[in-house]
Amino acid sequence: MLLEVSNIHVHYGKIEALKGISVEVNEGEIVTLIGANGAGKTTTLKTISGLRGLTSGRIIFDGRDISRMPGHLRVIAGLGQAPEGRGVFPGMTVHDNLLMGAYTRSGDFTAELNEAYELFPRLAERRNQAAGTMSGGEQQMLAIGRALMAKPKVLLLDEPSMGLAPLLVQQIFSIIEEINRRGTTVLLVEQNAQQALKLAHRAYVLETGKVVKSAPADELLNDPDVRAAYLGGGHDAPQDKGPDAAQDTSDTPNPKA
Ligand SMILES: Nc1ncnc2c1ncn2[C@@H]1O[C@H](COP(=O)(O)OP(=O)(O)OP(=O)(O)O)[C@@H](O)[C@H]1O
Ligand SMILES: [Mg+2]
Repeated sequence: MLLEVSNIHVHYGKIEALKGISVEVNEGEIVTLIGANGAGKTTTLKTISGLRGLTSGRIIFDGRDISRMPGHLRVIAGLGQAPEGRGVFPGMTVHDNLLMGAYTRSGDFTAELNEAYELFPRLAERRNQAAGTMSGGEQQMLAIGRALMAKPKVLLLDEPSMGLAPLLVQQIFSIIEEINRRGTTVLLVEQNAQQALKLAHRAYVLETGKVVKSAPADELLNDPDVRAAYLGGGHDAPQDKGPDAAQDTSDTPNPKA
């Protein structure tokens, strides 16, 4: 097993956001976490990448206990995160943003740059544009491309389809599939449960800080409870994020991935 999250508890002050979450990710898989606003999806990813500390529980990655490892060392160990929202460096060019993604590595990044530009031709067209002037969808692509520059073993993606037009949503999901096909394991958080379950091998359903269900993704696609709660009659448009979303980055002034 590549990533094993065991019974993690995470607090924001006195509020217990994660009440004993366990998630396993095998090498080569796409695993998705789905659940309503505030269920704890982002917190789970942030705890895995080291942006939040855990109160108790354990995270084993690639055979090592990383529970207390600082975030930047987790990037070096092979955890790459494209954070919820955009998180690009707005004043820097697209190209320099991509190079920043490789800050933990040394040597020649030509192959990785070429791969990022190949996966996202739009970034190649806009390589000298300031990242802050890119559209929301383009910035999302840049955030994923930047995370890939570190050559992660596991790519953590927090709502890559958020706020994208339907055509771009399709594009992002097929690019994630391609990234996985090329050998990167993916842990994907999505509100767009329908799309995520179609893409993923396995899935976990989170409710108020707990895992309430885990199963092969196609099983959940046909699960009546899941359909009623998260697939709402087949609507898969991105949902309004509500006020929580704005708070989400407040404790991460310096995201590492
Ligand atoms: N910085 C913070 N300070 C205090 N509480 C927080 C903070 N970030 C998240 N929370 C709370 O922790 C809980 C889990 O939030 P989290 O962002 O992990 O949910 P989520 O599943 O990602 O939701 P969404 O789908 O809206 O992104 C929520 O109740 C939220 O209000
Ligand atoms: Mg979230």
